Amino acid sequence: MQHFLSTADWSQDQLDGLLKLASDLKQDPIQDRLRGKSIALLFLNPSMRTRTSFDLGMQQLGGIAIVLQPGKDAWGVEFDAGTVMEGDAEEHIAEVAGVLSRYCDLIGLRAFPLFRDWSIDREDRVIRALAKHASVPVINMETIVHPCQELALMMTLKERFGEVKNRKFVLTWTWHPRPLNTAVANSALLIATKFGMDVTLLCPEEAYRLDSQFETAATQFAGQSGGAFNVTHDIEEAYSGADMVYAKSWGALPFYGRPEEEWALRRNYRHFMVDEEKMAMTNNGRFSHCLPLRRNVKATDAVMDADYCVALDEAENRLHVQKAVMLNLLGM
Ligand code: CP
Repeated sequence: MQHFLSTADWSQDQLDGLLKLASDLKQDPIQDRLRGKSIALLFLNPSMRTRTSFDLGMQQLGGIAIVLQPGKDAWGVEFDAGTVMEGDAEEHIAEVAGVLSRYCDLIGLRAFPLFRDWSIDREDRVIRALAKHASVPVINMETIVHPCQELALMMTLKERFGEVKNRKFVLTWTWHPRPLNTAVANSALLIATKFGMDVTLLCPEEAYRLDSQFETAATQFAGQSGGAFNVTHDIEEAYSGADMVYAKSWGALPFYGRPEEEWALRRNYRHFMVDEEKMAMTNNGRFSHCLPLRRNVKATDAVMDADYCVALDEAENRLHVQKAVMLNLLGM
């Protein structure tokens, strides 16, 4: 049984198959192929796009989605093994996964890291515990990676560029007043290098480098795909000649769990916000962001409203790629 936990576990051919199916579904969205099937969607964190697109996508294929928010409208869940459950959680993931596997054909989970200890969060234990105990396929709806967002990004890139190999893809850190999850940034590196793009990670200083497991994977994937991966702190060098600028803000991992200390660094980098002046340095480049996005904080109004901004295309493509993932995992 295959899960969809990280694209790192899937070959480029498999991912291409998902993207081809997603394109077909975009042309012919209402089908009956999942009639009688169901997915449980567990959200430990807020969502607008992910919740809407999974729920609607399942309905468009004839199936049913059940949304649960453990700790709010469902019992709180303990994910660690061997714990004496004297805290707030009323049940263990072993039973939650077992019961939902009896009811449903798929389980999706959103579980952001806890922002206390990166050495623990980097192991992605919560979704791995769910996958261990479930007897149906599990879909990652964002943990320390966001593979559905990755697929939507790659679908959008292929729609705009056709062949993406050796196109210059810039993943830029951008300003935000507080440290955010690295998931989308990690995922952008994985997918762009896997598809042979020439990837530049632009971040303000070494403290904002991404976890070594993702930078190492990016180097390995670039080597296998004929792409490239490099890191710079120089804005002009990064933007010059870029075909695609992908923005995300994230927290500095050496200061993980200590946002007050990180602020001493962060406050110096408001100028990383994406604006027209920077986009003018690109090769008629496109811009995107996973959303949600604070306007005039992460990117200016002018950038968000420009023809080259494809963020809404990427958000729409979430719907199509997730339907493809559900069909694939169920062998339909
Ligand atoms: N991009 C994304 O996952 O959006 P939501 O957090 O609204 O689901």
